[in-house]
Amino acid sequence: MHDERKAHWEKVYREKAEDEVSWFIADPETSLSLVESTGLSPADPIIDVGGGASHLVDHLLARGYSDLTVLDISPTALETARRRLGADADKVRWLEADVCALEGDGRWRLWHDRAVFHFLVKAEDRRAYLDSLARHLDPDGHVIVATFSFEGPRECSGLPVEQYDADKLLATFGSAFELLNLLEEIHVTPAGKEQAFNYFHLRRQA
Ligand SMILES: C[S@@+](CC[C@H](N)C(=O)[O-])C[C@H]1O[C@@H](n2cnc3c(N)ncnc32)[C@H](O)[C@@H]1O
Repeated sequence: MHDERKAHWEKVYREKAEDEVSWFIADPETSLSLVESTGLSPADPIIDVGGGASHLVDHLLARGYSDLTVLDISPTALETARRRLGADADKVRWLEADVCALEGDGRWRLWHDRAVFHFLVKAEDRRAYLDSLARHLDPDGHVIVATFSFEGPRECSGLPVEQYDADKLLATFGSAFELLNLLEEIHVTPAGKEQAFNYFHLRRQA
């Protein structure tokens, strides 16, 4: 399964430029506003799970966040982001891994995921993702997870997705998490299509 997933995303990032993929966003303002609303200090550890070649890391560095990890299953996506950042790439920890099988002793205060969790359409994969989250998030850590809403697409990048509203997301994440905020966003893809996203800000209750 891991190999199939990796092959899919590697093919996407090898065939398309970073600003050609449907999820491209130059200025991830909704994510940034939620990150700032957590009240985290600049030195708190943040991970962008399935960050790919996203520009979020560039903006977080520019705002002074200094303990940043970008995780992705695609080494090509990570290399694209690294090259873009140039010398600043050394300020970031880059992790090539499947989030559903995240190993090591990394511990983060904020877990950010835009458009990754919603690809997990099998219960066993969602369980594995949530096990990774439980192991690697601070006991009172923050989670920002962005998924397609019920008005959003049913598939992306040729893969089926699971859509979420607040009730469904909370039922999936479980009672250890409380919902602090929900922002809706209409993302316009580089091809001009509109996609309805929900951005959930959750906090684990210590
Ligand atoms: C739709 S893209 C979103 C990328 C990025 N979060 C953004 O907002 O631009 C999904 C990303 O998740 C990565 N991905 C998919 N499944 C993954 C998994 N199981 N573990 C880690 N990364 C994964 C893909 O390689 C891709 O970069």
